[in-house]
Amino acid sequence: MNQILIVESSPRGAESASRQLTRKVRERLEVQYSEAKVVIRDLVKDKLPHLDLPTLKAISTKDPAEAEALKKDAYRSDQLIDELMASDILVIASPMWNFGIPSSLKAWIDHVVRAGKTFNYAGTGVEGLAKGKKAILVLASGGVFSEGDWKPWDTVEPYLRQILGFIGIEDVQTVRAEGMNIPPLAIHAVSNGEKAVEALVI
Ligand SMILES: Cc1cc2nc3c(=O)[nH]c(=O)nc-3n(C[C@H](O)[C@H](O)[C@H](O)COP(=O)(O)O)c2cc1C
Repeated sequence: MNQILIVESSPRGAESASRQLTRKVRERLEVQYSEAKVVIRDLVKDKLPHLDLPTLKAISTKDPAEAEALKKDAYRSDQLIDELMASDILVIASPMWNFGIPSSLKAWIDHVVRAGKTFNYAGTGVEGLAKGKKAILVLASGGVFSEGDWKPWDTVEPYLRQILGFIGIEDVQTVRAEGMNIPPLAIHAVSNGEKAVEALVI
């Protein structure tokens, strides 16, 4: 185990349920893999720009000379991809915002899901290049989405699983603090999530 990458996206600091749960996940991982380097990619502290035209050109050109000339515009994407590819375990912490992930996390995904780097077109299909990694999704929501009437509204977990699978990460587990906006559930939401952290297979 060389490296653990933790991607944080809640701006709610100490009050954030996803950050509280992520701390638990980190504590478990640090006990189990004391030799591993832990890298924190905090998308609130270090804001990522959305992909713009120069970046798109730099990360999508197939011409090596042009790629070299545009290298500085691909730098951020290159750096984030290197960080991901050097990691054996990826922890993604996400609040649910409007039934989906925050745009800061989507910006990170847009930087790291890149042809030739984290996936390749293979015949009529696609081959993920980030194989062999484990991912843990740490999700927080105001309502309940793991079961019940609102489950179909959740575009967080299905999307994250789909996009991780696309780049070759199939071993994905989820822990949740859910019901944060439903007072009787909110009291236990984080501690229920912490129990799920103890049950993770890592
Ligand atoms: C902008 C915004 C949008 C939200 N949208 C939803 C939503 O669609 N569904 C939901 O169940 N909770 C929603 N919530 C509640 C959050 O998911 C909840 O507060 C959760 O604890 C956020 O994660 P965090 O504590 O790690 O910041 C929203 C909160 C904010 C601030």
